[in-house]
Amino acid sequence: MADLSTSIAGVKLPNLLLNASGVNCRYENELQQLLDSSAGSLVTKSATLNSRDGNPEPRYAPLAGQIGSINSMGLPNQGYEYYLEYAKKFDYNNGKPLFISLAGMSLADNKAMCEAFRDANLPCVLEINFSCPNLPGKPQLGYDMEAMEAALKVLAPIIGKPFGIKLPPYFDIAHFDQAAAIFNKFDNIAYVTCINSVGNGLAIDWESETALIKPKDGFGGLGGLMVLQTSLANVNAFYRRLNNGKQVIACGGVTSGKEAFLHILAGASAVQIGTQLQEEGTGVFERVSKELQEIMAAKGYKNVEEFRGKVKTL
Ligand code: DOR
Repeated sequence: MADLSTSIAGVKLPNLLLNASGVNCRYENELQQLLDSSAGSLVTKSATLNSRDGNPEPRYAPLAGQIGSINSMGLPNQGYEYYLEYAKKFDYNNGKPLFISLAGMSLADNKAMCEAFRDANLPCVLEINFSCPNLPGKPQLGYDMEAMEAALKVLAPIIGKPFGIKLPPYFDIAHFDQAAAIFNKFDNIAYVTCINSVGNGLAIDWESETALIKPKDGFGGLGGLMVLQTSLANVNAFYRRLNNGKQVIACGGVTSGKEAFLHILAGASAVQIGTQLQEEGTGVFERVSKELQEIMAAKGYKNVEEFRGKVKTL
């Protein structure tokens, strides 16, 4: 059997597949399903300082032809204290590390949440979400280089230990260069997760002539197979630019072992599954693991290090 283990931010994962933050991870019972599945680790729903109901429903829709999904959830979550309590009682000897996603509505909120996790001194890894596209009136921090750097200057020293950031997709080489140059200034940024959903698409049902989701006149983040190439490009762009052992976690477009394999070729150290997990349930991890192992066996790869980042160019 090909070895799918990896390590991120200094912690070992028995299998490099995990959920994308937001899917199947808001409540404890959902997190337990991830623990009970073949996923190698789990990340919680992005938390805000206070609990939120999120945007009005319908706010998620799969798209016809299995090309992906659109969502404008609006960060429904239980508030960071719920996830802090979960992290306190988490069994860190179960072999699957815990990632905690935080998405403060302001720098002050992010600061307060990071301080609370620092004070609790737990072995979980923080992933700061700079890229939610679905909050009316709130631009994605990841698209404002100055504000993102200013936020990191405050948060990185508070967190102290290795942490990750969840990025929006970038579409311009200059933006890859600028963002990577910022991240390289912070020693304890251990990884970036590429990508959050492709923000503000519009899905319309042609028969009813109506938008598929309710919030923001139907605008929402796109995920699933249709964002695969955007996601691969972001994974590879940061893999090429980040230094000092900084890693990339891939997120976007994984429906089978084939896309997971492509993400590793592009440079991913771990691979998250969002839309496909939402559609298929936690059994997706066993299926995709098996498919990835079959591809690796057919190509003669025994572990992921043998081909990570080794995509050939012409
Ligand atoms: O697509 C997304 N939806 N990305 C996020 O970061 C948050 C989520 C939501 O709750 O809207």
